[in-house]
Amino acid sequence: MQELERLKQELKNLNAKAAQIREIAAEKRAEFGRKLNTEKQEILAQIAALEKAELDKEVEPIDVTAWSGVNEPMPELYPTLQGSKHPLMTELDRVVEIYQMMGFDVIESRQLDDEYHMFDSLNFAKDHPARDGYDTFRTEEGLIPPAHTSTMQNRALKQFKSKLKEEGQIAVVVPGRVYRNEDVDATHEHTFYQCEGVYVSRDCNMGQMLGILRDFFEKYYEQKLNIRTQPGYFPFTEPSLEFMIEKPKSLGGKKGDYLEMLGCGMIHPNVLKMAGIDPEEYHGFAWGGGIDRLVMLRYGLKDVRYFESGNLNFLREFK
Ligand code: DAH
Repeated sequence: MQELERLKQELKNLNAKAAQIREIAAEKRAEFGRKLNTEKQEILAQIAALEKAELDKEVEPIDVTAWSGVNEPMPELYPTLQGSKHPLMTELDRVVEIYQMMGFDVIESRQLDDEYHMFDSLNFAKDHPARDGYDTFRTEEGLIPPAHTSTMQNRALKQFKSKLKEEGQIAVVVPGRVYRNEDVDATHEHTFYQCEGVYVSRDCNMGQMLGILRDFFEKYYEQKLNIRTQPGYFPFTEPSLEFMIEKPKSLGGKKGDYLEMLGCGMIHPNVLKMAGIDPEEYHGFAWGGGIDRLVMLRYGLKDVRYFESGNLNFLREFK
């Protein structure tokens, strides 16, 4: 840059010198002017070369596919263009962290699965009406965007089976995105998130399951909670329960205001068998519930559709 300054100064000097042309004898003016001009052209060429080199150096790569404004070097004018984590993902991380603290392994569910994992491996009899409860989408090849994270139970049991011998238990949670053929309204979305839990050992029981679930919800909502269960039906658990918590006062709940948070139960012997685990030797329990519902209660959200709406005003609330 010093060189550039020097050249610019030289150019100024030349211009000052040119102003003296009137003092030069008439017959020498042409020669004087030509000489000055040649020098000036040389200096200008050098300046242009230096400036070009400098520009080439400073050009940073930009994302030419980005929408207007993102590449502007004025972040203070565009604070909202800096992305942020989606609230559901922040909360999903929190959910998984709590289970990890409780000693659970974590695997992620798939976004495309098959008939076997969606139904057969979960003890849905062929042509059983329970299949209709999970009316989902299918690809032309017959694959299924999973309607629940339970599709992963068979895989989780197989993947962690060796832990039964090594550690005496399987303990795994499976967060994932699920899809349903729903009529969308304030409490129903076609796309949402669930977290599945699977636990197997020689002598586990329902009491332990309720203890784990209570523990999880109390950690998530950071307070003591009243819980309640009622009978439910799922082909993959026997017995099956619906697990409810009393809506805490701090979150706008009244006494006796119970909300269903998830489905759960003792893993059906057929489900263990299909994963190669002997139901005479081992028992298990499992549960699965929506993350969206969990988050809606925590933040007092009345409409589940906000999550998938891409509404920036909504997303900014969580920055
Ligand atoms: N997959 C069920 C649903 O989405 C919820 C569920 C019920 C999961 C019982 C489980 C379970 O693991 O044991 O409706």
